[in-house]
Amino acid sequence: MFEINDIDTVVKNAIEEISAIKDDDELEKWRIKYFGRKGIFAALTSKIPQMEQSLKPILGSKINLAKKQLTTLYEEKKKLLASTTSASQADAFNLTIPGLPTEYGTLHPITLVSRQIVRIFQGLGFGIHTGPEIETDFYNFEALNTPADHPARDMWDTFYLDEQKKFLLRTHTSPVQVRVLQKMPVPLRIIAIGKTFRRDAFDASHSPVFHQVEGLMVGYDISFSNLKAVLTFFLKELFGHSIKVRFLPSYFPFTEPSAEISISCVICDGNGCQTCAYTGWLEILGAGMVHPEVFRKAGVNDENITGFAFGAGIDRIAMIKYKIDDIRHFFSNDMRFLKQFR
Ligand code: PHE
Repeated sequence: MFEINDIDTVVKNAIEEISAIKDDDELEKWRIKYFGRKGIFAALTSKIPQMEQSLKPILGSKINLAKKQLTTLYEEKKKLLASTTSASQADAFNLTIPGLPTEYGTLHPITLVSRQIVRIFQGLGFGIHTGPEIETDFYNFEALNTPADHPARDMWDTFYLDEQKKFLLRTHTSPVQVRVLQKMPVPLRIIAIGKTFRRDAFDASHSPVFHQVEGLMVGYDISFSNLKAVLTFFLKELFGHSIKVRFLPSYFPFTEPSAEISISCVICDGNGCQTCAYTGWLEILGAGMVHPEVFRKAGVNDENITGFAFGAGIDRIAMIKYKIDDIRHFFSNDMRFLKQFR
């Protein structure tokens, strides 16, 4: 039960409270407290039926009057809050102050070098291919004339993915050669760029994940001279036409003959420095004429078809081009490092 005076107290409190309110959230709480479904006025009204008969109309009109008064106050307060916030916002937006600078991202040096390589080979009419990073033993080794018992397997420390050693992370991009030979008609010329994996511990020049570019050119009259011309042109386009290019005999199971290709050191101009281990040369490419066994395994059985292939580490090329002394920078996600390349 309540008395008529209680309504006056309610109104007095409500007025005190609303005058102290400073924002919309508080005002909404106030509204709910007094006018909500379970608010004070709802409670007062619900008690009227139990009051003494003669008091009912008086109480009813008193409540209505109080509600009207407070509703007016509420509307006024609402308008006041809206006008003061927009006024203070107008102060906060000084349109003459220069805006905050937008941070632009930059391309990763590996991406930059990959794009340069792609551009050079596209200019020579090479197509761009990709292959899976998870490979089978067949594509990564067997079809590349490197069967399970082949001693050359030691050249690639492999991450195997299953106990039977059927699936692995590709140790080089050479399996793309086989995939392309299986599906494309000869003559063809392609490059493939992508991630490669070896069980190497991280150090300044090794990373368990790195990047390679593979190249393959196959036709009816492809000779070692073509290999030499294409790769010399490629390296000069990439590193500048003043560099020297050197071909030395090498060995890969999937090419015969094979070559390792170096450029004169771009740091010391061939005079000898730490980067070239005082040899004056930087080894960049492995290459050679496609081994007949590779053609056979890929289902290319025309004896008159020949071709050359090559592979190079993109991380190493980027390190040489941008004079980066540690391969780990590429994987550090350090903005201070990454921002330097455009
Ligand atoms: N796949 C070789 C490697 O990773 C490089 C290579 C590619 C050599 C193609 C010859 C021909 O070491």
